[in-house]
Amino acid sequence: MDFFRSSDSPESIIILDYGSQYTQLIARRVRELGVYSEIVSPDVPWSAIERLHPRGLILSGGPSSVYDPDAPGLPDYVLSSGLPVLGICYGMQLLAAALGGQVRATSMREYGPRIIQRQDEGTSPLFDGLPNRFQVWMSHGDVVIQPPDGFEVIARSDTGQIAAVAKQHIVGVQFHPEVKHTPLGNHLLGNFVRRVCGCRASWAPAALIPSAVARIREVIGDGRAVCGLSGGIDSAVAATLVHRAIGDRLIPIFVDNGLLRAGEAEEVLRVFRDRLGMHVVHVDASARFLHQLRGIEDPEEKRRRIGHEFVTIFEEEARRLGDIQFLVQGTLYPDVIESATPEASKSAARIKTHHNVGGLPPHLRFTLIEPLRYLFKDEVRQIGLQLGLPESVVFRQPFPGPGLAVRILGEVTREKLDQLRAADAIVREEIERAGLGRETWQAFAVLTPLRTVGVMGDGRTYQNLVVVRAVTSEDAMTADWARLPHDVLARISTRIVNEVPGVNRVAYDITSKPPATIEWE
Ligand code: XMP
Repeated sequence: MDFFRSSDSPESIIILDYGSQYTQLIARRVRELGVYSEIVSPDVPWSAIERLHPRGLILSGGPSSVYDPDAPGLPDYVLSSGLPVLGICYGMQLLAAALGGQVRATSMREYGPRIIQRQDEGTSPLFDGLPNRFQVWMSHGDVVIQPPDGFEVIARSDTGQIAAVAKQHIVGVQFHPEVKHTPLGNHLLGNFVRRVCGCRASWAPAALIPSAVARIREVIGDGRAVCGLSGGIDSAVAATLVHRAIGDRLIPIFVDNGLLRAGEAEEVLRVFRDRLGMHVVHVDASARFLHQLRGIEDPEEKRRRIGHEFVTIFEEEARRLGDIQFLVQGTLYPDVIESATPEASKSAARIKTHHNVGGLPPHLRFTLIEPLRYLFKDEVRQIGLQLGLPESVVFRQPFPGPGLAVRILGEVTREKLDQLRAADAIVREEIERAGLGRETWQAFAVLTPLRTVGVMGDGRTYQNLVVVRAVTSEDAMTADWARLPHDVLARISTRIVNEVPGVNRVAYDITSKPPATIEWE
């Protein structure tokens, strides 16, 4: 079941994933250039790639060394298809080795920003419009020391190492054009996609809404479907699309776990029930979740219990609705890519059991419909806007499935939830009021069990510490603490201490990720 995919569009760029942490970024950048791109494992057969109408291939970077015995290799079709190829880092080394060049481990490991100098005398289409010298991001141990026959060295780094090679439509770069530390990297990728591959920039997912709706209607026929609404953008867009296709035969279930922020449950009902006219089943389950969380302090155990309770309640409700054949989920492309990533390379990233808390296990008796499975978040936002969802939903900050439970350190109680909700609302209000909402990735309050001494009026207080966390980020993989203006921080602090009972001190978290994470639990 393909929705929003290029199998019926004329062009795509296929990215072979050799395990770089930046592979997803390559795909996002290419899509931002208006060309559909998909990530595949190098062992996927040509037949699966061919049906996506590839106009070019990109080989990602990766942790291996080309002469390692178990290094992932170059599939035959890369060279035999005659398609343009861009090898990035390991991808370039792989191309060089396969074509008879030489690759060596170097004692001069390059990591970080470097200046490279073009050597192509202005002839390479890959560098069209780029200056003679420009900054790039390097991250490698191995280097190409001898390019294959017929290849020209088109750039060198300031240390003299080969930074880019080309032979007609086969090009390789030692650096990472996809990361923002290569400031002109998008321009270079644009050159590859348009000038080397000849793509026309026709990918506009919002234009595919009518065909996706038609396909959903075809698949569901006169069946009935359920979906979970969480207040987040993914489930909102998935539900709205399917509602457009089958109307009230879609029944959205909103399990209110009592762990949402101030006003969120009301907003879900206002948007989906009142504004979009969906027949939302609203389950107020806060007492059940609180019961599950009684006495639980460990964050992973909180996540496990919340996830489990959600599935139990969702199943109960779905059963009550009678004959339902389909389950709609707002799975996005990054979830699909991550679940296809080999366990070994995933383990480093699995510091918390984040994903799909609030999602449903596929063993349920339904046929799964995932209309957004080939889309990135920013594409889903475009579709959401086009479908008429309000900006408050479309640009809602990421919020963890286990909600406020992982922002209360220690046991979760109704009283602590009320305190945290009040403090959190102040943080968000003041940041919005200062016009900083869009540029802040997430901003929230954390309620700690730490009690500190204070003085209010003539009296001594001994109350809890609230921590304010605000970060900037592109994808939550890394984040920096937001440099909020002091007067905004001052207003937040004064208001929290004055308005939230039981809190007498506010601290601001000035740790980036890594080494810290965004959430405190
Ligand atoms: P961390 O804390 O690991 O979070 O830096 C990265 C992003 O993931 C969100 N997050 C979660 N999302 N379930 C979710 O659905 C979870 O259990 C969870 N924990 C963290 C977090 O808010 C941030 O956007």
